[in-house]
Amino acid sequence: MGKVMQRRLVRKLELERFLSRIALQQSPKPNLEQYTIPVDIASTMLYIAAYTYGDIIGKKVLDLGCGTGRLAIGAAFLGARQAVGIDIDATAVKLAFENSVKAELKGKVQWIIGDIDAVQGKFDTVLQNPPFGVQKRGADRKFIEKALKLGKVVYSLHKHPERDKNLIKKLKAKRTYISLVNPPLFLKKYIDKHNGKVKVVYAMIMTIPHMFSFHSKKRHEFIVDLFIIEKR
Ligand SMILES: C[S@@+](CC[C@H](N)C(=O)[O-])C[C@H]1O[C@@H](n2cnc3c(N)ncnc32)[C@H](O)[C@@H]1O
Repeated sequence: MGKVMQRRLVRKLELERFLSRIALQQSPKPNLEQYTIPVDIASTMLYIAAYTYGDIIGKKVLDLGCGTGRLAIGAAFLGARQAVGIDIDATAVKLAFENSVKAELKGKVQWIIGDIDAVQGKFDTVLQNPPFGVQKRGADRKFIEKALKLGKVVYSLHKHPERDKNLIKKLKAKRTYISLVNPPLFLKKYIDKHNGKVKVVYAMIMTIPHMFSFHSKKRHEFIVDLFIIEKR
């Protein structure tokens, strides 16, 4: 009999507890849009990737712009065969490494300090929470392009283009935080052009604390779109 991959199903709450223990960066850099993915968004993204679409367990996973490593370490925790995280910021990668040691997953995750341009190779799954391009317009495009060169399937977060408030209200009225939406046309076209096919887009409410001087409120609530993209 062939080798059967058996993994116990991790409960979502257990995943959330695990991810909340991953230390965050103390001095995030605004020009790199270094905010850490909130636990609820990270766990939903990983959960959908692992258990709805079977893209984590036993897979080779890449986290582009890994920051302190929540997505890469989370993927390793759920049973990725191997995870790789890369970030241009050495302080973030050092913390990501320490986080993987603390999580006892050091042997499962490799860390690279560098620009995403430097990554070579083939991966089953790319997970990314790229800079949204608030500081540098279009910063997320380079991530999409690179991810589609490296991975068979890409899970990518992008700021929702429409007026967030309306969608936030609609989701809250339905007492949910997630909903399937159509991909915005401009991003869909961009993805098509780079040999990707948008499989599905989930809109989610994302809340991040006040971190940078250009954040005017204590907490910033907006809609983020999780794109699941297949390589054509
Ligand atoms: C929004 S943060 C996300 C961090 C982490 N993935 C998370 O979700 O918690 C974006 C990350 O991309 C990194 N980054 C920005 N441009 C980059 C580039 N060209 N190459 C590698 N990393 C980059 C930043 O340093 C930052 O850590």
